[in-house]
Amino acid sequence: VLGLTAAAEADGYPSKPITILVPSAAGGPTDTVARLIAESMTKTLGQTVIVENQGGAGGTIGMARIARTPADGYTLAIWHIAHATAPALYDNLKYDPVADFDHIGRITDVPMTIVSKAALPTKTIDELIAWMKANKASASFGHAGVGSAAHLCGLLFLNDLNLQMAQVAYRGTGPAMNDLVGGQIDLLCDQTTNTTNHIKEGRIKGYAVTTKTRVSSLPDLPTLDETALKGFEVSAWHALWAPRGLPKEATDKLVPALQKALQDPKVIERFASLGTEPVPLALATPEALKAQLSAEVEKWGKVIRAAGVKGN
Ligand code: MLT
Repeated sequence: VLGLTAAAEADGYPSKPITILVPSAAGGPTDTVARLIAESMTKTLGQTVIVENQGGAGGTIGMARIARTPADGYTLAIWHIAHATAPALYDNLKYDPVADFDHIGRITDVPMTIVSKAALPTKTIDELIAWMKANKASASFGHAGVGSAAHLCGLLFLNDLNLQMAQVAYRGTGPAMNDLVGGQIDLLCDQTTNTTNHIKEGRIKGYAVTTKTRVSSLPDLPTLDETALKGFEVSAWHALWAPRGLPKEATDKLVPALQKALQDPKVIERFASLGTEPVPLALATPEALKAQLSAEVEKWGKVIRAAGVKGN
């Protein structure tokens, strides 16, 4: 009887609301992606998909919680490139990003932008770099915690310029952006999903994008590659994960629901307005995500160890 009940419940998946944890603050770029995906998956799954935020320590606090959560299909996580950089940065990480998770699928690769507070007296990326060199002792660069996308982008940018500058850590670039708009920090490298509207509406200044090609939502911004830093390239890929050991019934519903979200006209349109797009469906699978994550853990591990950066 017990076995039958369990099977019946599994067949009925999902029979209650599902939570997607975002391991960074509300109002930031991962939160934006997660809310769009959750809204679309709610329609497909017929159960509410709720987004919950728990920022801190470059996302490792939230992801540690997911690794310990029962794999019943009711608690998932949307996180990004930082899931791959965490093992090299955090010596006491309580989980293995590959082995301790079920990999549901990749979502999007978000371009990033070099931005400043509106009050800086600079217009172009070259002027900004000259200003940074002249003001390096007093200027501040925000990020979303060690290993966050903003931190990695800022590190690559400052390293390439051979500059050091005070870095200010937040629990996500949602709060970092609030302080940039308020003028409490000077600079940020953040995802177009968080910067596009602020740049367009003049609350901050945008100088360059970090992808090899320009971004359609911000067509006036040059690439760093075509201007100050040949070869510069970084973006923040996002994906959907679950604790390891999901019931097959849950995986069989979640993978197609994610794939359907990536084809949802509303998701595509909102992503485009924020400078990004869903990944091709062939990349939004458990196998492709696991292979990509494993490769990125190795790639970033080498870069981070060579740079000698540490999270704790
Ligand atoms: C990051 O830089 O890692 C992100 O902006 C985190 C976030 O979503 O706030």
